[in-house]
Amino acid sequence: MCGIVGYIGKKDAKEILIKGLKKLEYRGYDSAGIAFFKNQKVEMIKSVGKISKLEDKLQKGDFSNYNIGIAHTRWATHGKVTLENAHPHQVGEITLVHNGIIENIESLKNDLEKERATFYSQTDTEIVAYLLNKYLEPDFLKTIQKVTKLLKGSYALGIIVKSEDSTLYVVKKDSPVVIGLGEDENFFASDISAIHEYTNDFMFLDEEEIAKITKDSVEVYNKNLEMISKKVQTIQLEQESLGKQGFPHYMLKEIYEQPIVLEKTLNKYMDKFSELPDLTTYQEIHIVACGSAMYVGMIGKYLFEENASLKTIVTVASEYRYEKTIYNNETLVILVSQSGETADTIAALRKAKENGQTTLAIVNVKSSTIAKEADQVLFIEAGEEVAVATTKAYTLQVAMFALLSLKLAYDKKLIMDIDSYLKDFKEIPNLLKKVIEQEDDIKTLAIELAKSKDIFFIGRKIDYAICLEGSLKLKEISYIHSEAYQAGELKHGTISLIEKDTPVIAIITDREIAPKSISNVEEVESRGAKSIMITTEKLKELVDASLVVPSVCQFLQPLLVVPILQLLAYHVAVLKNCDIDKPRNLAKSVTVE
Ligand code: AGP
Repeated sequence: MCGIVGYIGKKDAKEILIKGLKKLEYRGYDSAGIAFFKNQKVEMIKSVGKISKLEDKLQKGDFSNYNIGIAHTRWATHGKVTLENAHPHQVGEITLVHNGIIENIESLKNDLEKERATFYSQTDTEIVAYLLNKYLEPDFLKTIQKVTKLLKGSYALGIIVKSEDSTLYVVKKDSPVVIGLGEDENFFASDISAIHEYTNDFMFLDEEEIAKITKDSVEVYNKNLEMISKKVQTIQLEQESLGKQGFPHYMLKEIYEQPIVLEKTLNKYMDKFSELPDLTTYQEIHIVACGSAMYVGMIGKYLFEENASLKTIVTVASEYRYEKTIYNNETLVILVSQSGETADTIAALRKAKENGQTTLAIVNVKSSTIAKEADQVLFIEAGEEVAVATTKAYTLQVAMFALLSLKLAYDKKLIMDIDSYLKDFKEIPNLLKKVIEQEDDIKTLAIELAKSKDIFFIGRKIDYAICLEGSLKLKEISYIHSEAYQAGELKHGTISLIEKDTPVIAIITDREIAPKSISNVEEVESRGAKSIMITTEKLKELVDASLVVPSVCQFLQPLLVVPILQLLAYHVAVLKNCDIDKPRNLAKSVTVE
């Protein structure tokens, strides 16, 4: 997703802006640009491709004595990946950067073209710049107010107005933006990671608020242009990932971090187990999320239903936000999000709240929008997750659902001996280390898989939920087509795709249903498939498995299986020379819908 960063102060803006853009790379981008501002003159430099291309261009000129600037990483939504479409965009007096999507851009553009307006780019952002310039008046706040009333959609805007060469303006609606407060300098950015090197003091703009920023002041206004006071939050970002620490990729480092961060999260919540939310008053759980976070929810469904007999529905946030949602007053809506900034999940959270539902969020990033807006939030302690493909955050979110389902079963008196369950749970980090030590065996399996064009994952019940994440991990970093299927469903059509040597990865950990899953493996093998089965110690006599994980209570088993699939996807992608930490087309936080 796009990222914006801005600086106004006593230092050299170039270095601060470039560093900020690099911190925002995780959001995904395909072009970048900077606008420097001094004495009512703007110098703009843009590039397609990596930020290093922009740095090369900057080397060729003298941009060392600017103290004001705005910068942008673009993840193309409106318009191709071209220099013209790269931000910043400039029209007349206005230069701006934008993260978000203006949804009524076609009608706005048509109206302007009727007035003979012409445009150099295909972007929605240029139209915004055009409108700000068109309706420019001495009080720029009024200009912003007038133009934003015309806009539908999401925007975090960083704006330079030529006539005001000691001021930056920031406007927020639905896309995140934070103001960083310094000594004789101030900053703005899409998230604090881009500027926390310079300050720990932040102001988070809320919906439709406007910030007027100089090097020694920050004024915030609401949509009625009334000045409002904003709380300054001091946030010490955790020791950010100290680079790859010898690992070839962040993803592998984060896979190996799982035992440590899982232990940290379990210690945090087990010490206060009784303080975990009491879910006994709810008749139904509705889990809403995107991507891997939604697959966490799929595991959560099995855990709540199997352990605590609580009906649970899982919905993709991009569907939930628009569908007719039917719930009763005793529905708890649980939002799952690593970044806490996923646009669809934020929209789902807001819809649930508008419908009077109680919301609980399971989030990793503490200063995020979802963490701030949910009625209650449970933070996992994964630390900064740099790789776009989630691993440690996914595993910790699954652990949170395991804890919540355990607490609910205990509160409902469905289990009495809670201590033995917690004792088993505390063993998981050590067992997880043992699982990850199987990396060499997993690497061997990856060799054949890397040559495939289609790979299927099959499983039943919670094993199917595990397959969903395993399949997504493989797809998103190795670019091999893959599908996860309920093992019993494959024969209702998709089995026609099975041909000689098609790899089928079967997850078989549920003792009760194992024989059925084994029959499904035999079905595909009889049609030429090459199966790879993953099972547990207790089932290894029954299952001719390629990989075996320690046996634990069923509701903890996913925590030991998914890391296998993370490593499998990782090694397949390495063999295919893929961009492991920043897969093509992907963003770490999808802040547009
Ligand atoms: C993670 O591997 C995926 N890249 C992606 O599906 C991610 O889980 C999804 O975009 C949700 O992100 P969030 O957890 O930050 O909301």
